Parts: sequence; C-alpha cells; structure tokens
Amino acid sequence: MGADLEHVLLTPDQIAERLDAMAAQIDEDYAGRELLLVGVLKGAVMVMADLSRRLHTPVTMDWMAVSSYGSGTKSSGVVRILKDLDTDLLGRDVLVVEDIVDSGLTLSWLVANLRSRKPASVEVAALLRKPESAKVDVDLAYVGFDIPSEFVVGYGLDYAERYRTLPFVGTLAKHVYTS
Ligand code: XMP
Ligand code: MG
Repeated sequence: MGADLEHVLLTPDQIAERLDAMAAQIDEDYAGRELLLVGVLKGAVMVMADLSRRLHTPVTMDWMAVSSYGSGTKSSGVVRILKDLDTDLLGRDVLVVEDIVDSGLTLSWLVANLRSRKPASVEVAALLRKPESAKVDVDLAYVGFDIPSEFVVGYGLDYAERYRTLPFVGTLAKHVYTS
C-alpha cells in the first residue's frame, strides 16, 4: 500500500459480496420492469460496471457528470451539470448509481433534477454512505456500506483524480489532504 493510504476499509471480496446482495434485491424489486441506470461520473464507474453485470433485470445505461467538489474534500453545495443525460426520462424507471453519499447535497439536488423530467420512478443505489456527515435527508433504496466520516479512495473514488483504480476502498492519510 502506498504511503498516502492509511488502511483498507473494504476488501474486494467484501465489495463483491455486498454487490451480489444489492443486485438480488434490485432484481426482486424491479421484476418484470426495465431499468435505466444513471451513473454519476466519474466515481461510480466501478460500481456501475460491477453492479450492472450482476443484474438480470433488463437495463440500459446512461451517465451524468456533476460537480460539487473542487480538488478538495468538502462539498460546496453548489452543483453544476458537466455532462447531461442522452436519454429522455419520460415514463422511465430510473436507478441512480452512486459511489458515495457524504453530505447528501449533491444527490438531493440530482434526484430533484431527475424527478423534474417526469420519469415513472427515481431511486438511488449507493455503494457507500457516511451517516455522520448527512446534511440533508436523501432516501437511498440500496446502500452498500455505512462508513465513518473519513475521506476514502479506491474502487472509483479519487483524491485529485488519483487512486480510482484500486480494487479496494481505503482511507487516505490525513497528511495528504490537510496542511
Ligand atoms: P455530497 O457531500 O454532496 O458529496 O454527498 C458527494 C460526492 O462527493 C465526493 N465524495 C468523496 N469522494 N472520497 C472521495 O473520493 C470521499 O470520501 C468522498 N466523500 C464525498 C463524491 O464525488 C461524491 O459523489
Ligand atoms: Mg461522485
């Protein structure tokens, strides 16, 4: 492990096992329907790849990029769409696939934005949630893990665009992001 990483929080096996359970639940809940998975770039790429391939429910996939963070570690609360969906949401069952819900500010903004496009439904699947950091209440239909309010990287999550390709979720040493 690099000197900038403190410890492994979730191993690849733990992540895989949890995704199995989440996918089974999603298949049960959406039986007989078709889902539009909306991935939030870039952090959700790994979750999207690994969760979507576990689903038996027919899915299509689309992506949005929003920005609420600079290169720092605190949510600004100001959300900007960097890349919008290509898909018309009218009448669709939408499942937002997220890497992590921290303050919840980004996601609550995103869910409200998607609902305004008149889909049949909008739910959220997030691999990670930091309950102690919640500033707004967002209803998450599927959550992988509740984790402490530490900055984590790996499995899609970055610090200044690094560490996304780690197969595990690890905590970043504080000296990396405080000075
Ligand atoms: P909010 O606070 O709006 O933030 O829920 C959600 C977005 O912030 C990023 N985020 C993190 N990224 N490690 C990361 O690499 C973290 O510990 C972390 N916490 C929040 C992430 O982009 C998420 O979508
Ligand atoms: Mg993200």
